[in-house]
Amino acid sequence: MNGAHCLSARMREETSRSSWIRRMSEEAARLRALHGPDAVQDFSLGNPSTEPPEEFRAVLEDLLSDPSHRLHGYMPNGGFPDTRRAVADYLSLEQGVEIPAGNVVMTCGAAGGLNVIFRTILDPGDEVIVSSPYFVEYGFYAANHGGVLRPVPAAPDFGPDLGAIEAAITPRTRAVLINSPNNPTGRVYPASALAGLAGLLRRASREAGRLVYLVSDEPYRKIVYDGVEVPSVFAAYENTIITSSYSKELSLAGERIGYLAAQPAIPEVASLMEGLVMANRILGFVNAPALMQRAVARLQGACVDLALYRRNRGCCSRRSAAPATWCPNPKALSTSSLARPSPTTSPSAGPSPKSG
Ligand SMILES: Cc1ncc(COP(=O)(O)O)c(C=O)c1O
Repeated sequence: MNGAHCLSARMREETSRSSWIRRMSEEAARLRALHGPDAVQDFSLGNPSTEPPEEFRAVLEDLLSDPSHRLHGYMPNGGFPDTRRAVADYLSLEQGVEIPAGNVVMTCGAAGGLNVIFRTILDPGDEVIVSSPYFVEYGFYAANHGGVLRPVPAAPDFGPDLGAIEAAITPRTRAVLINSPNNPTGRVYPASALAGLAGLLRRASREAGRLVYLVSDEPYRKIVYDGVEVPSVFAAYENTIITSSYSKELSLAGERIGYLAAQPAIPEVASLMEGLVMANRILGFVNAPALMQRAVARLQGACVDLALYRRNRGCCSRRSAAPATWCPNPKALSTSSLARPSPTTSPSAGPSPKSG
């Protein structure tokens, strides 16, 4: 019997499509064994380069030393109420928009958040537009829930190409997915780009007779340099759902802790929240990890030391002088391999992350 029959046809196709990521990481391991661990940099997986900040350990020790917290049990599917409150309060300041605790759901990372969002808003065949290049898992996440990812090329400066996005909008468009600071380009979208997108999405919603959402994937929001500010997506467009995580800003990638938040002005937002909480439950996440929820409730605003990332970014930019490579000065975390320029491009911000 053919061994491939152990997989569904769809999974066969998906594993073959993503095997290059695994091959890259295997090749890195092979080269490391050959040349030494410091001689090879593996950009295939997005593991943080730094340990979590000291505050994280202190909070964890404190939590573990006090058994009264009921640390390891189930809780409401949306998360501990006080954690949702802490995230909502911090996010309200960050976004400049008052966000009720009930508009936050604690998730298994931003990856879990995106799956919960797509499970909640997509019907089979609904389309999600994204600027290319993009985090490669997006296509799988949309397809998990019957959606179709529609990539459109980014503008030469790696910002969103509004003309290309407008041309890609169809009656099946349900969302535009953005990621700023961007993986892999490092681009931070300016407020003017968000305002332009908002105008497009309002028009598209009117014409389609249903909401066209902006889904903003923001796990790199805090990993920026040189005084760069990441503008508020909630201030730009009312029908926005954010997802983010503590994977990068607290180096907790393996702990699977993040959140999503819905803009309070979304029509029927209470029903949307009910759907999002239900999706968190029935996708099998049930709830985000309890201990981590307790920890991040006390760590709002904390961040890893960015010095190492800034130093890496400097190395990356200096490499741009090498003949076969090109690398603009990224405004955000840089973890990807160098991109080759097209002869006509001269972006102002660039390369960053990886596949996971
Ligand atoms: C752009 C982007 N979105 C989402 C994720 C998923 O992150 P997590 O689920 O760990 O929060 C990653 C991971 O590298 C990423 O680069």
